[in-house]
Amino acid sequence: MNAKKNLSQKEQKVLVGKTVIDRLVERGFIKSGMKIGLGTGSTAIIAVERLASYIRDGKISGIKAVATSFQTHIACEENGIPVYTLNSKEIAGNLDLTVDGADEIDPANNLIKGGGAAHVQEKIVEYNTKRLVIIADESKLVAHLGTKFPLPVEIIPAARGPVIREMEKLGASCVLRTCAGKDGPVITDNGNQILDCTWPALADGSSPVNPAKMEDRVNKITGVVENGFFTKNRPLVFIAHSDGSVEER
Ligand code: A5P
Repeated sequence: MNAKKNLSQKEQKVLVGKTVIDRLVERGFIKSGMKIGLGTGSTAIIAVERLASYIRDGKISGIKAVATSFQTHIACEENGIPVYTLNSKEIAGNLDLTVDGADEIDPANNLIKGGGAAHVQEKIVEYNTKRLVIIADESKLVAHLGTKFPLPVEIIPAARGPVIREMEKLGASCVLRTCAGKDGPVITDNGNQILDCTWPALADGSSPVNPAKMEDRVNKITGVVENGFFTKNRPLVFIAHSDGSVEER
């Protein structure tokens, strides 16, 4: 085996972003004419660029993509991948396959997503795709969701106070997300705001949160648009490791 040792996180992202497309094409999971969802974030964009290289080389044709954010839409435009929406006649509301990154992955392949504030469109796409493929570097693997990387909750701005109160009743602490390059809160691609919510870990280090139940519970709060737990379309996960291997599970 000629695996390079000690790949950095960035190198792992590049490795998994390229490898996933190579393997999916090799297995016929991605083929000409397919409707493909494309995720958001630094790892997903590498996969977008790799897919574009297959199209440029003429190895695949007729791909119809649905992007999950402005970031991905722009990457598709720059790389010559035709973009549609789930509402386009050509897409008819569902996709053959979607490739995306994640912020945390538990042993059952439940996810936290939305570190890039794109989880609303990601979830719309990923709950309407036949096959979901998640790609990540090994730092994203965790034993429990909800205590370290905060759960992103997209909210209607006018509901911020009441949503925070309801989340606190569920045991969470909430922080309104801000970012470099803009004063005040992050405004999502949908014109909303993000609360980053965490729960204190239990004494044994586990989480007080059941991701599947909490996904539904948080969405019942008036003013919540969508939260970043992804538990309802179990993905195939590709993980790049620092030893240069790419594990599938
Ligand atoms: C976007 O909102 C997230 O769901 C991303 O998929 C996630 O933040 C992964 O980001 P990186 O691939 O940049 O680590």
